[in-house]
Amino acid sequence: MQTAVTQVSDEIKRLELERYVLQMEVDGLTVVPPSVTGVTPEFLDRCTEVLLTEFTRMTGAPISLENGPEAELVWPERTGKSRSFLRDEDAPPPTQMLIQQIMQLDRCFRDLFVNPVVDALIDHAIGPVPFGGAKARRLSSTNSFVKWQGEYGYGESLGLHPDQGATPRPWGAQALTANATWCLTEYTKSDGALAYVPGSHRPGFVASAKVVQQARPVECERGSVIVWPGSTLHGAFPKLTKGLRLNAVAYYRHQSVLPQENMTITMKDAPWDDCENADLMRELIGFDDVFPYLKQSQEVPRAKA
Ligand SMILES: [Fe+2]
Repeated sequence: MQTAVTQVSDEIKRLELERYVLQMEVDGLTVVPPSVTGVTPEFLDRCTEVLLTEFTRMTGAPISLENGPEAELVWPERTGKSRSFLRDEDAPPPTQMLIQQIMQLDRCFRDLFVNPVVDALIDHAIGPVPFGGAKARRLSSTNSFVKWQGEYGYGESLGLHPDQGATPRPWGAQALTANATWCLTEYTKSDGALAYVPGSHRPGFVASAKVVQQARPVECERGSVIVWPGSTLHGAFPKLTKGLRLNAVAYYRHQSVLPQENMTITMKDAPWDDCENADLMRELIGFDDVFPYLKQSQEVPRAKA
């Protein structure tokens, strides 16, 4: 087996993930098949069923994997300065929506997001906190992109962006955020696969005007998980075929980076410890983190009586 570019953890060695680490470090992205993560077709069916039910609850439209939404959908009236990356100024009617906070929907997602293979790869990408060597990876948000037929997609740019774009540069080798996208349908270019620019994660990479031409589709079987650091340029190809492209995304952050969802509050009373690895879930949510605190957290000396 080839060895990784940098040092790897005991978990990476135990799970024999060196080849995926190497691919992530060289290309800026790796694809791990379901035979390695252990997710079964029945488990993927359950995740799919929960998301389609939630889609109908949120939108009012029936939906199926084969046909996509079975009603005409329109964006809501725009108010104030609201902006959405899903919705270009001149974009045609919706061909995609984001279901947020999916970890709260069903235990299947809580189980999915403590998968040990993905945890080891995310830990490798994000690394330890500066002092003490504790693991720095935390969940930032959990989402599902529900995407159906439409020639426009993200337009000519393919929506290329790095996920950690809100953090100051220069970026180093340690990822500030990382993405694990679980494919609940097969990914092919014509089905609207993820697009990414190989090598764009490297420190010092400068995107040229022709960067879109460097974008490659990530094609993989259903149940695969695509893992990449927040520095990799990515977007998606438009979905030219009938039916749905469906995923479940766990988006991670370094402990020092602001989360997208404030999970220590939103998950506090929600079920979270009913999953395969409650200790890991506790750590990923950040329940025991010192920051941000809600009250005086340091000891107070008292006047001696
Ligand atoms: Fe992204």
